[in-house]
Amino acid sequence: MNAEESVELEQLMFVEEPMDGDDPRVHPAWLPPEAFRSLGARRVLLHGEGLLVDTVLNEVSRACARYGGRVWHSPSWDVDVDLVLALRDAGELPNPSVEAARAAGEAALVELGDGGTLGDEGFVLARAGDVTAVLADAPAGLLYGLFHVVRLCAAAFDPARPPERHRPALRRRMLNHWDNVAVHPVMGQVERGYAGGSIFWQDGRPRGDLARVREYGRLLASCGVNAISVNNVNVARTEALLLTERLGDVAEIADALRPYGIRVHLSVSFAAPVLLGGLPTADPLDEAVRAWWAATTRRVYDRIPDFGGYLVKADSEGQPGPFTYGRDHADGANLLAEALAPHGGVVHWRAFVYNHHQDWRDRSTDRARAAYDHFAPLDGRFRTNVVVQVKFGPVDFQTREPVSPVLAAMPATRLAVELQVTQEYTGQQRHVCHLGPWWSEVLGFAPWGPGGRTIADVVTGESAAGGGMVAVANVGDDLFWTGHPLAQANLYTFGRLAWDPRQDPTAILDEWITLTFPPSATADADLVRRTLHEIMDDSWRTYERYTAPLGVGFMVNPGDHYGPGVDGYEYTRWGTYHFADRDGVGVDRSRASGTGFAGQYPPYWAQVYESPETCPDELLLFFHHVPYGHVLHSGSTVIQHIYDTHFAGVEEVTAMRRKWQTLTGMIDPSVYERVAERLDEQVRCATEWRDQINTYFFRKSGVPDERGRDIY
Ligand code: GCU
Repeated sequence: MNAEESVELEQLMFVEEPMDGDDPRVHPAWLPPEAFRSLGARRVLLHGEGLLVDTVLNEVSRACARYGGRVWHSPSWDVDVDLVLALRDAGELPNPSVEAARAAGEAALVELGDGGTLGDEGFVLARAGDVTAVLADAPAGLLYGLFHVVRLCAAAFDPARPPERHRPALRRRMLNHWDNVAVHPVMGQVERGYAGGSIFWQDGRPRGDLARVREYGRLLASCGVNAISVNNVNVARTEALLLTERLGDVAEIADALRPYGIRVHLSVSFAAPVLLGGLPTADPLDEAVRAWWAATTRRVYDRIPDFGGYLVKADSEGQPGPFTYGRDHADGANLLAEALAPHGGVVHWRAFVYNHHQDWRDRSTDRARAAYDHFAPLDGRFRTNVVVQVKFGPVDFQTREPVSPVLAAMPATRLAVELQVTQEYTGQQRHVCHLGPWWSEVLGFAPWGPGGRTIADVVTGESAAGGGMVAVANVGDDLFWTGHPLAQANLYTFGRLAWDPRQDPTAILDEWITLTFPPSATADADLVRRTLHEIMDDSWRTYERYTAPLGVGFMVNPGDHYGPGVDGYEYTRWGTYHFADRDGVGVDRSRASGTGFAGQYPPYWAQVYESPETCPDELLLFFHHVPYGHVLHSGSTVIQHIYDTHFAGVEEVTAMRRKWQTLTGMIDPSVYERVAERLDEQVRCATEWRDQINTYFFRKSGVPDERGRDIY
């Protein structure tokens, strides 16, 4: 093949080009064209067939067309290349140097042991002579291998680079979109969405912007996500129809995402047999109900053969569920699992079940206990294609909570941990709050005691058979996808942690910075990198400092959950109280004198959390009601800690804003302006938090700040 022919191929590949960084409607996030410079300047041979191989070809072709490289896709051409991306079972190539690189990859696999398996999504990267080889057993592996090469930039072509094998630790790496099809009168188009409208739905209909959906799929694939659910877990009438009459709308999204290896899942209503099927009951043990789910699910697979499965919020915050029929959650989940099993589908059944009509006067009910009380006794009863999806904490995605004890209580169940990328309680994408360090802490938590198995181990399971990681998505139709441009990093980090939950979040952030602000196109790349780390690395702890103290949680304005509302939920039915009075604050969840929640943990942590003397400072008020004068492990009293952290938090945010200002003129002005604007709001809001929290506790306790700062 000559140069002209390769260019023709490149042009052909452009026909179906999705929108990219040049499209004014959307920011390229962490895949700007410049991030592909190193790859695009190379000679690349792609070897293998399949839908996802075509996607790789498309990606490489675009990069090469832009940066002067070349791409070939054929088993027979004898060409000199810098990079070969090949399926392992694709036939031999006539070129000795390419074959040498492939052999190096094979040898590396043998050396790494494990029978040399890469699975459906893994890949190996090896060097021989001047050639880098990426080998995979399946097309998805080549796609992930390609994005790995992009991340590595020139390092992928370093002659000294040792061979490396990559396989995702978790089989399913999933985002849940809380997107409504019809605009909800209170929650809007996207429940807890802080980035504009939905990229899928608008005013009761599909949005029809499939180029954007494809571009989204591309971003997700590049960080490792391989599944999404496309509608809110609170399923209203219009959304329920996606399962039947409006299935075509879901199929269109699935078609757009398939080339990026992403499967589509659907949130369904447990009452669907009644709502949609006209049956008198949705009882999971009723034969007609089982038959309805089986037939309906068959039709779903006729239309979407690689459909992922169902996501269900049942008996929770008003959603229908098996309790109506005197059945439990295993009965409910197994009903849907049975319908999905013949097609290879899976049910994600949420453990977020609690009494949301609590009486604040009643101290015997504890929302934190609820998931464990409902689910732990059901361990062993769920079918193998049920994943019980557990929020990372026992209450509700707070800035600080202990890790949910449910994750340690169901060894015979596939468990997924659910995180919240959308920043409902962490600044709503108006505040910089980089969540990677928090998620890493959760994933690294060892519920059976230090040195034991971790949450990452639980969700990985034996031979990756665990339930995986799931997160509530944070994107919308906003120009920057996420409202706050720096919130893109949370999405990226989720995908990378879901690929390997043991990765260092700072290193992941560094990857994101390099991709998003490519050094080759940045005036002072070191300054940009340093400044972003300074602003983002510790931003979750900064956020924690100026909001609810010591793990007590909530204290947000009811409804929209933004900004301080110290007593906002104190006398409501939602079960999220802090019990502050003139003498002290916090919730007694000990076994000895409180709700007993601490006893839901395996012995090591049950004991640590049981006593204020051993409970870690950051969770003290989650587990104990203590006097303001209680001395923390840090040496400070509770009240002085509240004052100090709130003053410090605002100072840190002010410093973030100052640091950001040093980047004027260094980065894309539209990103600069958007972040600057949001930092102004963060300073304002953090100040409001500081003053309301400090004033509230000063007035309650009467204890002055020992440093005499302004409290109102
Ligand atoms: C939170 C959130 C709700 C959401 C719920 C859930 O409580 O505020 O909007 O529906 O979580 O996880 O289902």
